[in-house]
Amino acid sequence: MDNHNVRLTAMAETTTPDIANPFESCLIEGKPDPSTIVIVGASGDLTARKIIPALFNLYLNKTLPDPFLIVGCARTKMSDEDFRNKMKKALIDTKNLDHQKWKTFAESLLYRIIDYHSLHSFKNLAYSLRDMEKESGTRGNRIFYLAIPPFLYKSTALMLGKAGLSTEETNGNGWSRIVVEKPFGRNLNTAIDLDRSLHEHFQEHQIFRIDHYLAKETVQNILMFRFANAIFEPVWNRQYIKHINIIAAETLGVGHRAGYYEQAGILRDMFQNHMMQLLALIAMEPPSMFEADRIRDEKVKVYQSLRSFPTGDLQNYLGLGQYGSGTIDGERVPAYRHEPGISVDSLTPTFAGMKVFIDNWRWQGVPFYLTSGKRLNKKLTRIVIQFKDIPHSLFRRTLGEEIAANQLILGIYPDEKISLIFQTKNPGAKLCLRSVAMDFQYRQNYSGPVLGAYEKVLLDCMIGDHMLFWRQDGVELCWSFLTPVLEECEICRNRSKMLLTYESGSWGPQQVK
Ligand code: BG6
Repeated sequence: MDNHNVRLTAMAETTTPDIANPFESCLIEGKPDPSTIVIVGASGDLTARKIIPALFNLYLNKTLPDPFLIVGCARTKMSDEDFRNKMKKALIDTKNLDHQKWKTFAESLLYRIIDYHSLHSFKNLAYSLRDMEKESGTRGNRIFYLAIPPFLYKSTALMLGKAGLSTEETNGNGWSRIVVEKPFGRNLNTAIDLDRSLHEHFQEHQIFRIDHYLAKETVQNILMFRFANAIFEPVWNRQYIKHINIIAAETLGVGHRAGYYEQAGILRDMFQNHMMQLLALIAMEPPSMFEADRIRDEKVKVYQSLRSFPTGDLQNYLGLGQYGSGTIDGERVPAYRHEPGISVDSLTPTFAGMKVFIDNWRWQGVPFYLTSGKRLNKKLTRIVIQFKDIPHSLFRRTLGEEIAANQLILGIYPDEKISLIFQTKNPGAKLCLRSVAMDFQYRQNYSGPVLGAYEKVLLDCMIGDHMLFWRQDGVELCWSFLTPVLEECEICRNRSKMLLTYESGSWGPQQVK
């Protein structure tokens, strides 16, 4: 190559290449098998707010199976037409209703009344499904999505099994899958018990334990960022990193979920699942292949390395809070204890700040600060990698010893971006430094559709990919880590003293920061 060509190549290499693949080719690999999605608990909030809008969006993007059926089941008496109208209203609320497309989509929506405690009722469902499938051609492939309160998971899984609905054919068609939302139990023992019940009739490859955080594009990207680039891994360890902050702040309060939340609190609602997954993605070792079980194996190793909390010295590792009244987005909001359905002397935490250590070669001594809370100042989900200070400042005569250390910010919400913060010279004759950010916006160079988290998990379930779902060993290890803390917090004598009240609209209790 002559000099001219070398120069041209160098110039070309400094421009950002546009995305290599047209977006259609990145949406899905092949079409999922024809299948029926059975939503158990279809009269509830989750179906209207998340599941049906996600399925409709998949339909608009032409990624649903062909043919497909959606069968809603619940105790509420409704006709197919009532169900369709209810779902149409839900889509109008999400402002994502294409009236023309809705008409054809709605033809595949059916409804059956079910009594969760009656085997007879589940057997009737099995008969109906067979008839519907014959007519529609969905070949006996079924997904049972449990959109019901967690206390019904066990009995419903057992009923489905006893009614023959977990049985699979061996010819590739006639598969059966069950989708379970968190919480997977309330502690280690109940998680083991739930799993035992699921396994009475379903095998592990049939079980999909959802964590919608894993399906967020920006969360999936953590592994690509770490392992599809050569320059970050060498500094991704205790030698260069001072600490890591994982933050999931919300402005929302408990809403209509008082019954569930009073039992769960922030540790079960956000930490046992979403926060632990974010931690694992940041801390895990590179798996040898991008395969569901290899990735889950590496996550499990992180959970095995979590340092147990010194329960005698909990206050140095865990801060808990509960929101008082305050102002969010200019509106007055009530204290947690004055929310509908919450007891006036509730001790349920709505905020937690936790310091976690991972006892392995890579992370020894690096604190991971995990913070999540409701009714905080802003909806913000991000991971901040705080690098160590420079070892020696040659600018100290003019600037002193203080030079802000580098930060890498992985923005998950609302800013879907990656920022690297570094020091640069301020223009001018005098030596001055300033911190600047080098930003990558996630949607830069991309104008195609983005799959929402529920769309992605539904699609993965249809194609049988477990990559973004919990495996039971991970669930149990996280419960083993958190259960002693929960027990300590829930039975200790100074429980009310441990819980600090914070003003809604603030960033949580002062003492925890
Ligand atoms: C859910 C929790 O799993 O995640 C909710 O049960 C929380 O309490 C929600 O509000 C947060 O999810 P996202 O995607 O809005 O950050």
